[in-house]
Amino acid sequence: MSATENIEREKQRAAEAAAELVQNGMTVGLGTGSTAAYLLPPLAARKLDIRCVATSPATSQAARELGIEVVSFVGLEAPAHLDMTIDGADEVDPAGWLVKGGGGAHTREKAVAAASDRFIVIVSANKMVEKLTPPIPLELAEFGLAGTLARLGPVRLRDVTHSPDGGVIADYTGSFDDPRALADWLSAVPGVVEHGLFPPEMVAEVLVGRGDGVERIPVTG
Ligand code: 5RP
Repeated sequence: MSATENIEREKQRAAEAAAELVQNGMTVGLGTGSTAAYLLPPLAARKLDIRCVATSPATSQAARELGIEVVSFVGLEAPAHLDMTIDGADEVDPAGWLVKGGGGAHTREKAVAAASDRFIVIVSANKMVEKLTPPIPLELAEFGLAGTLARLGPVRLRDVTHSPDGGVIADYTGSFDDPRALADWLSAVPGVVEHGLFPPEMVAEVLVGRGDGVERIPVTG
């Protein structure tokens, strides 16, 4: 088996284990990306009585095609509280800090994770790192973009369409040692809609696919 095949198998194992955590009656947040995509078939196969909130149009469409009920997360009628959200990550450090947003969906992903009792992260073993590294995904307001870029410094704009909420997707490429300090600073820069650093307080558990098995790492934040 090639290294790429092994990574895909680990993503799938972690996603299958996470699907088993979902229970009847839950409202469940569905992440975005290739690992989160592996969650949908085993979740649909369980035929549970659940309703889901999707973090991207792609996830919404894929879930609906499998018969999973997806409800809107827009406006006052949207669920204010979710029981569980399951999503992938680009990097996970030993404290449980995450880098997310490789797919540019981090604004919606963070809003859904923040509304959830339990945020379950599913990753292949190569995503576990000793120290988070740039780039850190950003969503920026189009309005005043030149000024926002000047305030941020080292940023690369992605050559992709805007987010579903109209934001410009970019990456902060500066080096950093302290994820909390960078997260606080990015959150305070006018024009930054959201960044891809997720703190350990947001994370309940990381499920890591390792070979044929899955390691469950509780995060106490
Ligand atoms: C999308 C994300 C993804 O969860 C992250 O990029 C990991 O993606 P993949 O599972 O494809 O490796 O944050 O915005």
